[in-house]
Amino acid sequence: MDHIKACIFDLDGVIVDTAVYHYKAWKRLANELGFEFTELDNEQLKGVSRMRSLEIVLQCGGITKTEAEQKLLAAQKNTWYMDMVNQMTPAEILPGAKEFVESCRDAGIKTALGSASKNSMTILNKLNIANLFDVIIDGNKVSKAKPDPEVFLKGAAELGIEPKYCVVFEDAIAGVEAAKAGGMKAIGIGDPVLLHEADMVISGLDKAPRPPKEGAGDWALNKI
Ligand code: G6P
Ligand code: MG
Repeated sequence: MDHIKACIFDLDGVIVDTAVYHYKAWKRLANELGFEFTELDNEQLKGVSRMRSLEIVLQCGGITKTEAEQKLLAAQKNTWYMDMVNQMTPAEILPGAKEFVESCRDAGIKTALGSASKNSMTILNKLNIANLFDVIIDGNKVSKAKPDPEVFLKGAAELGIEPKYCVVFEDAIAGVEAAKAGGMKAIGIGDPVLLHEADMVISGLDKAPRPPKEGAGDWALNKI
């Protein structure tokens, strides 16, 4: 059995409650373009880059836009999104997230962030949690979006840990797929039906089994 040596965390919807702001901003854009955008439609956008998300939103509305128009629409969405992010307080760090990452570090497990978001650093700095991670890989450092495993493989490589010793925490279908494609274990955060490809699904990091301080070898996550 391969004992876990590193935990890699997605940001939006795993560490912070920003997934809802992404949804609100995309929904507002869709509504202004004249169509509805549901929470189920939104599942396809989780973990997906900004420009690819816009393509999916436009497809949902059956709308075509030029590349220049697409850039403006994505910028508009990001402005609305960041307006909400700028109002965030540390209370929007998801329950148990900080404590779980800290418990990993205390047990000698390495930690990395692996997010598609180009706004990751702004969010981490705003909430004062950048120092929770040994390595941060965000949307500015990768060229291939989840479900491609690039973001997680880069995280593992920068930590110096082989993928088979890594476990990824993800709320997105594309993110779970990316972890598995990278040869890592995946813990889904959210709906077990949607995230059925994960090795285990929990409702949040407050429910994640914490590594024992002495000898993380006995950790429940080593047995999945
Ligand atoms: C995360 C979110 C996606 C978002 C993407 C890009 O993966 O789950 O919903 O589209 O990051 O975020 P950004 O902040 O760069 O627009
Ligand atoms: Mg996410």
